Amino acid sequence: MSLQKVLTQTNMKCVPDGLHHIEVIYEYVQEAFPQECDNEVVCDTGWADSPEWQHKVRNALQTLKGKGRIHKTGLERGYWRVQVNLDGKALLDACCGARSIWFDKEHAAALYMDIREEEPGTIKLQPGWSVEPDIIGDYRDMVFEDESFWHIMWDIPHIMEAKGGIMLQKYGKLGHGWKDDVARGFNECWRVLKPFGTLVFKWCDLSISTNEMMAQFPVIPLHGTRTKKSVNEHGTYWILFFKLPREMEMYQEIWKMVFNCMALLADGCEDSLEEAIDTMRSAMLNLQQKALV
Ligand SMILES: C[S@@+](CC[C@H](N)C(=O)[O-])C[C@H]1O[C@@H](n2cnc3c(N)ncnc32)[C@H](O)[C@@H]1O
Repeated sequence: MSLQKVLTQTNMKCVPDGLHHIEVIYEYVQEAFPQECDNEVVCDTGWADSPEWQHKVRNALQTLKGKGRIHKTGLERGYWRVQVNLDGKALLDACCGARSIWFDKEHAAALYMDIREEEPGTIKLQPGWSVEPDIIGDYRDMVFEDESFWHIMWDIPHIMEAKGGIMLQKYGKLGHGWKDDVARGFNECWRVLKPFGTLVFKWCDLSISTNEMMAQFPVIPLHGTRTKKSVNEHGTYWILFFKLPREMEMYQEIWKMVFNCMALLADGCEDSLEEAIDTMRSAMLNLQQKALV
C-alpha cells in the first residue's frame, strides 16, 4: 500500500496527538515507515524540490483535514493539529456504512466512523448509496480517548466469506480472524464509552450464531433480542450493553458474595464459609483502596 494511502487509512496514527510543525510530522512518519521514506527520490514538480515521500505526507494531511483528526483552521503556516476534535459529539457510530439505520443521517451529536470511503455511484443499481464517514477509523484500534462517548452504535459486517455481490460491497465481511477482531473491537468500544453509557450491538446470524458471537464479549448485555423466535430466519438482533462504573460493578460482586455466604451459613457449610468470607474481605479491601485513590 502506498505511504499516502496508509497514512490516510490510519488517520495518521503514527503521529501522536498535539500541535506539530510539519517537520516534526515528517520525523514521526519517517520513524514509523523508514522503508517508504527515501530522501533520494525527489519530487520536482511544484515550487521547490522535496523528497517524494514528504509530498505524500502533505497530501495525506490535506485529505484528512477537517475529517475528524487533522485540523488546520486558524493555525500558523507550517503547523497542523493532530487531534480528535470531538466538537461536542456524544454519540459514535463505529461502523457507519451508508448510515441507513439512522433516522437523522446528519445527527448533530454523532460522529460517523467507518474503515473505508465509497463514493456515490460505486453500486450501479443503487447510485445514491455511499459511505462518507466523518472519520476513517478501525474499531479494533480507535484514536479516541478513554470514556469519550455516551452512546455507541456498533453494526459490524456479518458475512464471513464472499467473493463478490452487493451484500459484500455494502456491508463488508468479517474474515477468518473474526474472533480476535470482534474481541478487540468490543474492548475498544467499552474503553471509549463513558460510565453509564450504552453500547448497541447489531447482529445478523447468517454465518455465525449469535451465541458464538456473544461468547467473544466479556460483558453480559442488559437487554435486547434474546431469542431467535423474535426474529425471522437470519433476522437482525439488537443487543444493548450498559456500562456501570467499575466501583458499582464491584459493589454488585460483593453483594453476590454476601448472599453466597448467607446461603453457606444456612446450609451449615462451615469449611466453605471461611473461604467465602476471605474472598469477600479481599474484594472489600480492593474496593476501599479504589475509593481512596
Ligand atoms: C453492516 S455494515 C454497517 C451498515 C450501517 N450501519 C448502515 O446503516 O448502513 C458494516 C460496516 O462496517 C465497516 N467496517 C468493517 N470493518 C471495520 C472496522 N474494522 N472498523 C470500522 N468499520 C469497519 C464496513 O466498511 C461496513 O461499512
